[in-house]
Amino acid sequence: MSQQFDVIVIGAGPGGYVAAIRAAQLGFKTACIDEFKNKEGKPSLGGTCLNVGCIPSKALLESSENWERIEHKFAAHGISVEGAKFDIKKMLERKDGIVDKLTGGIAFLFKKNKVTSLFGHGKLLSHKDGRWQIEVAGAGSTETVEATHVILATGSVPRALPDLPFDNKLVLDNEGALSIPDVPKKLGVIGAGVIGLEMGSVWKRLGADVTILEAAPGFLLAADEAIAKEAQKIFTKDLGLKINTGIKIASIKAGKNNVKVSYADSEGKEVAETFDKLIVAIGRQPNTWQLAADEVGLPLDERGFVVVDAECRTSLPNLWAVGDVVRGPMLAHKASEEGVAVAERIAGQHPHLDFNTVPWVIYTSPEMAWVGKTEQQLKKEGVEYRKGQFPFGPNGRALGLGEVAGFVKMLADAKTDRILGVHIIGPFASELIAEAVVAMEFNASSEDIARIVHAHPSLSESLHEAALGVDKRSLHS
Ligand code: FAD
Ligand code: NAI
Repeated sequence: MSQQFDVIVIGAGPGGYVAAIRAAQLGFKTACIDEFKNKEGKPSLGGTCLNVGCIPSKALLESSENWERIEHKFAAHGISVEGAKFDIKKMLERKDGIVDKLTGGIAFLFKKNKVTSLFGHGKLLSHKDGRWQIEVAGAGSTETVEATHVILATGSVPRALPDLPFDNKLVLDNEGALSIPDVPKKLGVIGAGVIGLEMGSVWKRLGADVTILEAAPGFLLAADEAIAKEAQKIFTKDLGLKINTGIKIASIKAGKNNVKVSYADSEGKEVAETFDKLIVAIGRQPNTWQLAADEVGLPLDERGFVVVDAECRTSLPNLWAVGDVVRGPMLAHKASEEGVAVAERIAGQHPHLDFNTVPWVIYTSPEMAWVGKTEQQLKKEGVEYRKGQFPFGPNGRALGLGEVAGFVKMLADAKTDRILGVHIIGPFASELIAEAVVAMEFNASSEDIARIVHAHPSLSESLHEAALGVDKRSLHS
């Protein structure tokens, strides 16, 4: 007889593993199926995020920023470092060590919460007598397991350019971009999105000459315009990234040792450049590969996402889907919160997730983070708003850190003063945004933030001043 569960989760990324833990906490007999293998060919839980996404990228960002501090920032502190050098092998090993620690941590959490971890490819077989039958094709063996509820959390995979498959030697996806063994002299990046900017920054700081080619007519069009403008200025002038927007690729030819990219620039001029490596980061697509969606009649939308309602229910009985494989932002924390919410719904609870308060962070230097509406969205929607903006330049803590670039912008409803959006570019924007998220979740007004005591000296004082600025009473500008 096949193994029986209350809940089976397919995929152990931040959507799936968190859903499995929460389901087990709620008393369900739970299994989680995952097929990811690390470089040594061993099963490794945590999905894209822990293995080849959020975590390793942040490790490399930090290493490269440390190098930049030595090269360009320590001198201002009166610190000189003679004969400094970096060891890329060690840097990559450190990153891999962090990944191993966290992925191993999930295995530990599964044991602790009594989640059965099944290694292999999960496939929907059928739904009979109120139970789902799932095939798990593991290393050398295939078994069928059954559950009342199934949560699909199969994530996403990188989108390739037509006729340019990833080989992760010359043409790199996220996995390749995180493991380049030697700093390339000339690195091309297709796509000035989140991965392009984060990975482009890493390799630029480590010495590569980085050119980013972006098809969209402008830079970071999803971000608030003021943030995008400031970021573009800093990334091109200070960091030295070459960012060409509005380009149209004509051809890409991967040779033996390099890749030749021909494109028309924003003025239509034909340009040809040869790169030692090319990162292609043009977005990701939902992963429903060999899940048997068609066979069981699971609707996918025109872009391949599993169709779900606002509560992550598919149209099939007791079949749920969360994370990158469904609509909404492709973010780890969004995936996890959906996973928790689904487990709780299965238990008959009524959780709620507000997409408008999901924060975005881009971990460049300086970082960018935002929540809620951008100024251009509010204008388009005809919403009347007031704005407060405060730079990090006069902030004592930012000066101490030597990280004074950027600002905080707060947008509040003109009539009710309710905060509609907060946009930050500057040091530790990823941490500062949490205050704005909490404020928005609690429907706070800019006045609420203005009247809260913020520690001095702290970066959060710039958020405080931006809130005061909404009412034109910033104290330090
Ligand atoms: P995934 O993490 O993709 O996990 C899906 C898992 O399911 C994988 O292990 C996969 O192997 C497995 N799987 C798929 N199909 C099957 C099957 N049929 N059977 C068995 N197993 C299967 N987000 C952030 O919020 N912050 C960041 O800083 C950030 N940085 C990123 C950096 C990079 C380079 C990349 C690529 C992504 C980054 N993201 C970041 C996005 C984040 O990784 C994803 O949003 C998140 O991983 C989605 O989680 P998920 O659980 O939906 O899917
Ligand atoms: P992205 O959607 O952020 O950016 C892709 C960029 O490529 C866009 O600017 C797009 O206009 C451009 N593009 C598309 N086709 C092109 C073409 N043919 N030629 C040139 N440019 C083209 O996607 P990215 O960077 O691949 O990342 C995927 C997702 O992973 C992100 O959207 C995000 O959800 C997630 N992620 C999140 C991170 C974070 O939270 N810090 C970090 C990295 C990834």
